Amino acid sequence: MPKIFITGHRGMVGSALVREAERHGGHEVITAGRDRLDLLNQQAVFDFLAAEKPDIVVIAAAKVGGIHANATYPADFIYENLAIASNLVEGSRRAEVPRVLFLGSSCIYPKLAPQPMPEDCLLTSPLEVTNEAYAIAKIAGLKLCQHYRAQHGLLYHSAMPTNLYGPGDNYHPENSHVIPALIRRFHEAKVSGKPSVTIWGTGTPRREFLHVDDLAAACFHLLGLENPPDWVNVGVGEDVTILELAQLVAKTVGYEGEILTDPTKPDGTPRKLMEVSRLKGTGWAPQIGFEEGLAAAYQDFLSKLESGEARL
Ligand SMILES: NC(=O)c1ccc[n+]([C@@H]2O[C@H](COP(=O)([O-])OP(=O)(O)OC[C@H]3O[C@@H](n4cnc5c(N)ncnc54)[C@H](OP(=O)(O)O)[C@@H]3O)[C@@H](O)[C@H]2O)c1
Repeated sequence: MPKIFITGHRGMVGSALVREAERHGGHEVITAGRDRLDLLNQQAVFDFLAAEKPDIVVIAAAKVGGIHANATYPADFIYENLAIASNLVEGSRRAEVPRVLFLGSSCIYPKLAPQPMPEDCLLTSPLEVTNEAYAIAKIAGLKLCQHYRAQHGLLYHSAMPTNLYGPGDNYHPENSHVIPALIRRFHEAKVSGKPSVTIWGTGTPRREFLHVDDLAAACFHLLGLENPPDWVNVGVGEDVTILELAQLVAKTVGYEGEILTDPTKPDGTPRKLMEVSRLKGTGWAPQIGFEEGLAAAYQDFLSKLESGEARL
């Protein structure tokens, strides 16, 4: 049975990959939390891979954060993400690991990329400055895989997911992504009987969301391909406005008050949508509908709230 090393298994993506591996069957899963293996420690990574000799390494470990963290600690974001990628890719080559899947994100594409964003717009114009450090490290990870594949003939490749949501999300009031933030706000408004909830900006920017379990399924699909693309966008290829999203979350949560917008607050990029024909061409499409996925995400939030495990 092939041995798969899933890094970052306590994170949102890593834990979904472990669940998918269990559902999928056919792999021996190995994991190592930061307490056992600090991925910034190059020698420890080399030694671990040499001892374990996995058949597949998935790089779902990363230093991840919101706009504020990225703006305050850009050196940490670029250094840690470069180190994690280079230690795991070079360590995998040394341990003769035949296959690596590296996970990046849509922020690798230029700020003014065409919409939807095709894979080939990579490195065609400047990045968004607020997360440039993180994006540069993710581009380097993708390029490491591409060049190791070209030079060493190893099947090292990458997947670039769009915005994710689902189990394992972070519900912190200032530090979370838009879906968990809205789930929390509408839930609290429902519980306290608040008559209205105000969302930032005009509500018109469009965003795309993929359930993390769909991403995990896409990763296993890519790992099953004999000749996967060097990197491929993983998204749904459709988006919603922030106001539509707020309405859907309110409906999911059962909040019946009014939803207001605040046009004095910044909107951010008008649209960020992945072009997903390369992925579709390999024979994969997402399975989890948005309403179904949001309902499951709300149930996850409620159960975490009850058990005190939510990343609040
Ligand atoms: N979530 C999204 O919406 C989204 C969207 C697109 C792409 N992605 C990509 O998916 C990947 C994973 O993201 P995520 O949302 O799952 O992040 P996450 O929930 O923060 O998980 C990251 C994991 O990496 C581990 N890690 C970080 N530094 C480490 C180190 N030095 N040694 C060992 N483990 C370390 C963390 O361990 P600790 O628990 O010990 O901190 C954590 O378990 C990233 O590459 C991200 O860019 C995510």
